[in-house]
Order: sequence, then structure tokens, then C-alpha cells
Amino acid sequence: MVEFHQIGEQQVSLRVPAKQDEHTIRSLLNRAYGQSNEGRLIKRLRACGAVVLERMATDRNGDLLGYLALSRVTGTGYGHRLKISCLAPVCVCPSTQRKGIGTKLIQSALDDLQGLGEDLVLVLGAPAYFSRFGFDSELAKKVHGPYAGPIFMALPFTQAGRIELPTDVTYATPFEEFE
Ligand SMILES: CC(C)(COP(=O)(O)OP(=O)(O)OC[C@H]1O[C@@H](n2cnc3c(N)ncnc32)[C@H](O)[C@@H]1OP(=O)(O)O)[C@@H](O)C(=O)NCCC(=O)NCCS
Repeated sequence: MVEFHQIGEQQVSLRVPAKQDEHTIRSLLNRAYGQSNEGRLIKRLRACGAVVLERMATDRNGDLLGYLALSRVTGTGYGHRLKISCLAPVCVCPSTQRKGIGTKLIQSALDDLQGLGEDLVLVLGAPAYFSRFGFDSELAKKVHGPYAGPIFMALPFTQAGRIELPTDVTYATPFEEFE
């Protein structure tokens, strides 16, 4: 399914990437992050079956503007029944950043994720940006894992995601490279 949005003067389409988009996505990740680690991460997340959801944004010519992935995180202890995922990587093409594309891409993916019955989403990023989606660094203090700190945030979708904490979390194996 393709969603169409008018963002300023730009018509942006949001859809699930296909196999043939993988090379372009990797190239965008390399440009947006200025390194190849995130491109390698998503390739390995796909290979181990940890990806929960991927989305890409394209312009009216089909050129890639933005991309994100959410992958499975495993909770243990009190929160072991929670469905938890993490948002990473997420990027917008450097030449089209700060035009609202990232906000639309992320909000649309979070809406879809909520519809899938997820309890909690984690992210590591600028609080000034991710707080607009409801990500909360105070709540994340109850989520114990490898990325604890001031830029670690959590967004609950359900009552369980708010109260069945604290929990310890383990990310998919490809994240070990970032610990
Ligand atoms: C972070 C990113 C995805 C945002 O996408 P975007 O399309 O540029 O963002 P939007 O246009 O939706 O939002 C722009 C707003 O976010 C703010 N913003 C963007 N990046 C920010 C950052 N790193 N820190 C704080 N604020 C930021 C802008 O100031 C702007 O604020 P405003 O709405 O008050 O004007 C994009 O900048 C990017 O790809 N960055 C490189 C990769 C990255 O750092 N990813 C996130 C960490 S995993």
C-alpha cells in the first residue's frame, strides 16, 4: 500500500521497501550517517529476521527521500510479556532534511506499529526531535539495556507498556556492533 502526502511543495509517497530498493536504501544510509555501519546493520537485521517494520519515503519521481526500520527487542524480568521494538536506523536525505519528511515518515510508521499491537518502542536520538512523537527519557530509565543514558527514550502504546516496567532488554544480535 502506498500513502501519499503533500509536504510543503513536495509530494511524498510512503511505502514498504521491496527487495530491489535495498541498494538505494543502503546508499542513503551511508550518506545520511556519513558511515557504513547503519547500512550493514539493516542488512544483518533483515538476514536474522529481526525486522518488525520498514518504511521508505520517495518523491514523485520515485527517488528515495527517507527510510526507517523497527526491529524486535526482547524484554526479560517483569516486562517479559511486552512486545517491544526499537526505531533504528532512521534517516532523511541530507538535501531534503528539515522539511517535515522525517516527522511524516516516523509518525506514519509509529501509527502502523501501534496497530500491530506493539506495547513499547525504544529509540536512541536527540530528545529535542523525538519527544514530538511522545518518546520519553524518564520512562526509558525503567528500561535497562545497553543504551541507557540521556538520549535513550521510550514510547508506550499500551497500558502494559507503561506499567509492566522495569524490564531488562536485549536488542537483536546485529546491534552488538554498536554497544
Ligand atoms: C533526524 C532526521 C531523521 C530528521 O528528519 P527531517 O526530515 O530532517 O526532520 P523534520 O523535517 O521532520 O523535522 C525537522 C525538525 O526537527 C528538528 N531536528 C532535526 N534533526 C534534529 C536533531 N538531530 N536534533 C534536534 N532537532 C532536530 C529540526 O530543528 C526541525 O525542528 P522544527 O520542526 O521545530 O523546525 C534527519 O535529520 C536525519 O536523517 N539525520 C541524520 C541521521 C540521524 O541522525 N538519525 C536519527 C538518529 S538514529
